[in-house]
Amino acid sequence: MAIPIIIDTDPGIDDALAIMLAAASPEVDLLGIVAVAGNVALEHTSRNAAALADLLGLDCPVGKGAALPLWRDTHFAPEVHGANGFGGYELPASQRELEPGVPLLARLIEESAEPVTVVAIGPLTNIAMLMSEHPETARKVERFVIMGGGTLRDTGNATPTSEFNIYFDPDAAARVFRFGVPVTMVGLNATHQALVAEKHLPDLMASGGPAAKMVKHLLNSYHDEAGVAAGGEHGAGMAQHDSLALAAVIDPAVITTEHYYVDVENTGRITNGMTVVDYLGRWGEPNTDVAFGVDVERFRNLLNTRLTELDTRLKEA
Ligand code: BDR
Ligand code: CA
Repeated sequence: MAIPIIIDTDPGIDDALAIMLAAASPEVDLLGIVAVAGNVALEHTSRNAAALADLLGLDCPVGKGAALPLWRDTHFAPEVHGANGFGGYELPASQRELEPGVPLLARLIEESAEPVTVVAIGPLTNIAMLMSEHPETARKVERFVIMGGGTLRDTGNATPTSEFNIYFDPDAAARVFRFGVPVTMVGLNATHQALVAEKHLPDLMASGGPAAKMVKHLLNSYHDEAGVAAGGEHGAGMAQHDSLALAAVIDPAVITTEHYYVDVENTGRITNGMTVVDYLGRWGEPNTDVAFGVDVERFRNLLNTRLTELDTRLKEA
């Protein structure tokens, strides 16, 4: 049976590929998409989420969540994702009615017959609000799979210690890790291995339909020096942060994980937003499956196959 999922997201170049991968994969049942401020302002992320849902022919609801971190100022990343969040790629504006984001999360979790997996690939503000405003509903979640944080050498891209999604709203992230529902953390130490360029998606590139056209543009519009520099043995490409988190739900063999207690620094002078993995087991029972290994070929093949199938479907529609 397909796993019911909700994607909480700040589209976002890599968010777009992640949503496409979910739309193309029968292993998951996409119940809804909820936008949050992050890579760019909420006005853009929500517009992008709705426009992408239209392009993909999704009939699930789209929500518009938090415009600001819980208690801090925003610091968007237009230098990475472009001013519109899609590296300048313009989709037709959607006429969809957007639902308020946090109530939509709560409604979809309550209405699902099976426990929902929430895949959070932006800052964790909506999720933290769900936990404080609807704690009993949040406890019904099967697990939170987050793209965020990092460990070992790859702890940061927004700052030397901190990954963007966690750094954007560290107070929200700290609440999510401490809440008590299992978390899978797909952090930079994993996503910097998951580099994808056009040559890794040959069937999709040859297909040439609407999804292929957009992916081609996005792959060449992403300006993340930390991700590209991490290329190493896997060769250059775009770090697929967010679609790796989706892949971890669709095909768990794509990553290997270890179980640790993880907390977030949110009062530090120079380390705000750092995820701290307690390898020593000093701080409590493990709360997080931390992704370490990535089967890069398996991941690239999954993206290539699924997005090609999606593109073929869109061309025929
Ligand atoms: C994360 O931040 C954003 O730039 C990406 O969309 C991804 O979710 C990577 O640090
Ligand atoms: Ca994102």
